[in-house]
Amino acid sequence: MRKVHRKVVSFLSLWLLFEQAHSYLYDNRYAGDKVVRIVPENEEAVKTLKALSEQFKVDLWQPGSISYISKGAFVDVRVSRSTSKILLPYLQQANIQYTFLISDLQKAVEKQSGWRLSRNRRSLSEYSYEIYHSLEEIQRWMHHLNKSHSDLVHMFSVGKSYEGRPLFVLKLGKRSRVYKKAVWMDCGIHAREWIGPAFCQWFVKEVLQTYQTDPAMRRMLKQLYFYIMPIFNVDGYQFSWTHDRFWRKTRSNNSGFHCHGVDANRNWKVKWCDEGASIHPCDDTYCGPLPESEPEVKAVAHFLRKHRKQIKAYLSFHAYAQMLLYPYSYKYATIPNFSCVESAAFNAVNALQSVYGIRYRYGPASSTLYVSSGSSMDWAYKNGIPYAFAFELRDTGHFGFLLPETLIKPTCTETMLAVKNITMHLLKKCQ
Ligand SMILES: *[C@@H]1O[C@H](CO)[C@@H](O)[C@H](O)[C@H]1NC(C)=O
Ligand SMILES: *[C@@H]1O[C@H](CO)[C@@H](O)[C@H](O)[C@H]1NC(C)=O
Ligand SMILES: *[C@@H]1O[C@H](CO)[C@@H](O)[C@H](O)[C@H]1NC(C)=O
Ligand SMILES: *[C@@H]1O[C@H](CO)[C@@H](O)[C@H](O)[C@H]1NC(C)=O
Ligand SMILES: [Zn+2]
Repeated sequence: MRKVHRKVVSFLSLWLLFEQAHSYLYDNRYAGDKVVRIVPENEEAVKTLKALSEQFKVDLWQPGSISYISKGAFVDVRVSRSTSKILLPYLQQANIQYTFLISDLQKAVEKQSGWRLSRNRRSLSEYSYEIYHSLEEIQRWMHHLNKSHSDLVHMFSVGKSYEGRPLFVLKLGKRSRVYKKAVWMDCGIHAREWIGPAFCQWFVKEVLQTYQTDPAMRRMLKQLYFYIMPIFNVDGYQFSWTHDRFWRKTRSNNSGFHCHGVDANRNWKVKWCDEGASIHPCDDTYCGPLPESEPEVKAVAHFLRKHRKQIKAYLSFHAYAQMLLYPYSYKYATIPNFSCVESAAFNAVNALQSVYGIRYRYGPASSTLYVSSGSSMDWAYKNGIPYAFAFELRDTGHFGFLLPETLIKPTCTETMLAVKNITMHLLKKCQ
């Protein structure tokens, strides 16, 4: 009896030790959470689903807002364990189809765990582009490039975030006395879309590694500047590492409300706060109290306005959907110069597909994804930047925002070809 008792005790203490050593990421807050894909097949189901999403305040992964839920189109939602216990039987009863994309979100978050290890000790010369990096690491990497490649890289700040962090941009290109056009790229407007910042870093790496050997790259750097902002929404990105992996918005205070943040892709002064944006501060597509209320948006808008004669292309990187989008976002209408932009998109998605066969859909954002007002892409276009695009990178929902680090390389490799193709298109005269 005593012997058995002792065995149990020692087993228990071992188990406790293990539990203590294993610290959960994000305080285990996603334990039991699920990501469910729901397809409402008729108007009745759409109505039911909208009502349920409203009531339970679920986290919509795709599409970004309840108002976008429509017949026949899938809806990816994150639901807590307790909500799923009520919601899923309800869906079954209402005969609304659903499948699990992720059945244990905490496990999925922990699995994407290369980034759990502290990488601070790694030297910058062996910086890995195939893992996700924290804000601090990315900023250190930028400072390093600014020093080690001062002939080609210039790092500067366009302003400060709500929480006071600098908004760094890298300017790439051979300094030249002649006037040069420029391409603007930003990543990480939405915090949880980590593949975006990974791509911006990948792009810089590729430029620096290939401009001496690849004639196309050499030509691009000779004739153009690239402005690259690896993390637009720095406060949100930091928050997605420390508190909530699925945070999307900025981190500003909304006076009178407990919830923080504005959707930095609904805050631009172009049909601001119209269709596809929310006036409710707690919504993920909240447009803010006024256009450019967010210091991040204001700073970038100011920079783009100042350089709008020089900047010929605006590229913004999001996830996930596998799409290449161009204006308009806010209305169903064809842009002037449609054929130039359309052929650039067509060639870019073909170039992208040539690597791994991944086929991106492309077209005006309004009809290809959904209508949204106050977006950066529409704003850039309206302010005279003729080639304005938004990429929705991999995947189409299998991993969603938790795209594994093993997919950084293929995703960035194919996207790189698309970006180069658009840039080369820019250098040619479009007929
Ligand atoms: C980048 O380097 C230049 C000159 O080497 C320096 O003047 C500038 O302050 C650096 N940028 C940042 C953000 O530190
Ligand atoms: C935001 O709100 C928090 C808590 O209400 C407060 O402590 C903080 O000072 C506010 N920040 C700013 C910049 O107003
Ligand atoms: C861009 O894509 C088109 C279509 O695939 C291709 O014909 C063209 O060679 C590509 N250009 C570059 C520079 O990659
Ligand atoms: C259309 O293209 C022409 C020639 O590239 C350019 O001058 C004009 O500004 C463009 N218009 C718009 C609305 O982008
Ligand atoms: Zn996004």
